Amino acid sequence: MMNRTLPNRAIEWQEGQLILLDQRLLPSTVEFLRINNVLDVYEAIKNMVVRGAPAIGITAAYGVVLSAISHQHLAADQAKLNILTDIQTLANARPTAVNLHWALKRMQACLDDNSVDWLKNLQAEANSIHQEDIAANKKMGELGAEYIKRNSSVMTHCNAGALATGGYGTALGVIRSAYEQGKIENVFANETRPWFQGARLTAWELQQENIPVNLICDSAAASALRAYDVEWIIVGADRIAANGDVVNKIGTYGLAILAKQAGKKFMVVAPTSTIDLGSASGNDIEIEERGSQEVTHVGEKIIASQGVNVWNPVFDVTPAELVDVLVTEHGVIEKPDTKKIAQLFASPHIN
Ligand code: MRU
Repeated sequence: MMNRTLPNRAIEWQEGQLILLDQRLLPSTVEFLRINNVLDVYEAIKNMVVRGAPAIGITAAYGVVLSAISHQHLAADQAKLNILTDIQTLANARPTAVNLHWALKRMQACLDDNSVDWLKNLQAEANSIHQEDIAANKKMGELGAEYIKRNSSVMTHCNAGALATGGYGTALGVIRSAYEQGKIENVFANETRPWFQGARLTAWELQQENIPVNLICDSAAASALRAYDVEWIIVGADRIAANGDVVNKIGTYGLAILAKQAGKKFMVVAPTSTIDLGSASGNDIEIEERGSQEVTHVGEKIIASQGVNVWNPVFDVTPAELVDVLVTEHGVIEKPDTKKIAQLFASPHIN
């Protein structure tokens, strides 16, 4: 049965348990998993119960809290070793979204002080990571919406909404904010093969709030840009290199090329936790490749020729020169490059 109610949060911490909305089942089924051990958190991230770069980071942070709970009966040194092993396991759940590593680094730092109550600190840190992400999304929503004119049509790819973050969304946060200001007439949501984040998640999220949305096949994006007055393509990111190259859902690079060719503008919306100064360019970033069944099947049904070879990279690299605007919670960078990104990080607000 279709349930049209968007839960407040896709990720919740309730009385020592992690509650995750199972995004694999959306939109037809709204079901939550109760998770109380770290290996189940690892599986949930790996198997896409929860997905989207900031959401993965927040989930992993709560995973570390579950690890600490399970080891709290041990002597401090042993407990710490076990938690560090669990942090390593969580870090291996998915390779591309840097928010996972960023969040785990913050959690690991809580273990460094031997004199304090780890569990309390870890719980507080996971909660901060979650709340800060929501606040960052709201801020980016405001900043990005300033670039949108009245009566605009925009296009988005994958799902960079409430489901992919602590709440509100990055790219969808800008769209939500611009819609609240009466600026959005229509959103083209690309279906986003092979996992259909656009069809299943973005279309659903926008429908919940009565934001006008047209779902299109990925291959219709060029035609939509030509046929309609789409001013902006707005996407999130899984990792942004120090030079501004953007790694995001497969298909993003093609859209950025289309935008350039069609004279449209390309906006990337991502918190600073998605920027990885350790990767000089997109070439340094590992692109996750997932199983062939995501391409050969839709659900349980095979749609491809049996036994065909498949290549399934799930992210791509958009060179910085194709990005018109990078929106972060600490400010907007037009035409991002190494120098401008370094300047942003030199701001005293970013640690
Ligand atoms: O494979 P997914 O669904 O985790 O990929 C998600 C994306 O590519 C999103 O665009 C990105 O994480 C930004 S989410 C705010």
